[in-house]
Amino acid sequence: MPDSLPPQRTQVAIIGAGPAGLILAQLLHQHGVDNVILEAKDRGYVEARIRAGVLEQGTVDLLHQIGAGERLAREALVHDSFELRVDRQRHIIKIQDLAGAPMTVYGQQEVVKDLIALRVEKQREQVLFDAPVLHIADPAGERPSVVYEHGGQRHTLIADVIVAADGFHGVGRNTIPNSMLKQYQRDYPFAWLGIMADVAPSADHVIYSRHTDGLGMLSMRSPTLSRLYLQVDRGATREQWPDERIWEHLHRRLAADDGWRLNEGPIIEFSVAPIKAFVAEPMRYGRLFLAGDAAHIVPPTGAKGLNLAVRDVQVLAPALAALIKDNDSRLADKYSEQCLKHVWWAEYFSCWMTELVHTADDPMAQALALAELRTVISRRGAQTLLAENYVGVSARPPASVTASETLARLT
Ligand code: APR
Ligand code: PHB
Repeated sequence: MPDSLPPQRTQVAIIGAGPAGLILAQLLHQHGVDNVILEAKDRGYVEARIRAGVLEQGTVDLLHQIGAGERLAREALVHDSFELRVDRQRHIIKIQDLAGAPMTVYGQQEVVKDLIALRVEKQREQVLFDAPVLHIADPAGERPSVVYEHGGQRHTLIADVIVAADGFHGVGRNTIPNSMLKQYQRDYPFAWLGIMADVAPSADHVIYSRHTDGLGMLSMRSPTLSRLYLQVDRGATREQWPDERIWEHLHRRLAADDGWRLNEGPIIEFSVAPIKAFVAEPMRYGRLFLAGDAAHIVPPTGAKGLNLAVRDVQVLAPALAALIKDNDSRLADKYSEQCLKHVWWAEYFSCWMTELVHTADDPMAQALALAELRTVISRRGAQTLLAENYVGVSARPPASVTASETLARLT
């Protein structure tokens, strides 16, 4: 492939058009910092990728603040509680009363669609789709660059800073020498089987049901679309899980003594995702910064993944603005340390909640988790902590966007 084109230039090269890359691009735009987004896949693929769908209030506020909240305000479902089920009994955790904030159900791919439409149709700026980054050159030097493929040609983009918002399997993290990174990983022995069912949700809040066969979960995407999950073995396949078996397990695991009924409908999407926790430290190497899944993965219980990516880029945008516009590196130098605080909070909470509602092979772990769950549902203090972590208020810094405000908080 020829490499004859002259190099292009920008201030920030962003790799990846997931939530982390797209939101960062908007924040940089607000700070007056030029940026280019390079995305390996096409627009249709990125917009159709189904992921979790629960937004903390801080995430909702940020989407409004960057101008991506219009459809969200119309279509999202706002919940003031969620439910824990155990021993066929229902326990409502009133998050709004206990923690002063609701949770908003709005599919991640809807967030992604809104962000792409904002950039492409409203602002007439580009997202370069079908543009996989092959290589990052000189990340620790003064003039880093990315080499990417697009339209059958190889291109070079020189930038002041490169942000790898390229997910867990991207090139960014792998560019950092192993000796510079500390990586933590826990692989759970189970996976989540997820379905989308074309049927009205059977409740108006999310339900986590702990059952001896494993977790059964009910969520939703709209008044006519249910999202349901089952804890299954890691290698589970569609062949092993025909529709009848999925519904049989959902009915059994979600059953309650008060006669609550689960609505069944056509399954329009099926996926199996392994459950893991992962953190890479630090989240920076010279002029290369990691954000979102590129740096960390949380187990999906509690749906912190997208919210965590949002927190990263909220810290990163003012730091890059100060670095690039004022040649002030103080915030950038604190980026990793500051993010790792909310990253480890989210890891702790997501792992804790995962172990609370899933079944394990180890009988001791099983009995302890059940005892803990019974304690949580019977003690208001324990419920308050759960609610505060669930809605994210326990880890959210005060909302400020300017570099000087953030710096004042840090120093
Ligand atoms: N070049 C260009 N783009 C790339 C490359 C590459 N070499 N490698 C990966 N990408 C793209 C992927 O195609 C994807 O669109 O980077 C994007 C990363 O997006 P996400 O995986 O959505 O990651 P992130 O933006 O950090 O989102 C965090 O998404 O994965 C969920 O659970 C996660 O909810 C969390 C949120
Ligand atoms: C979802 O709706 O996809 C969802 C809801 C709650 C979770 C995880 C995922 O804890």
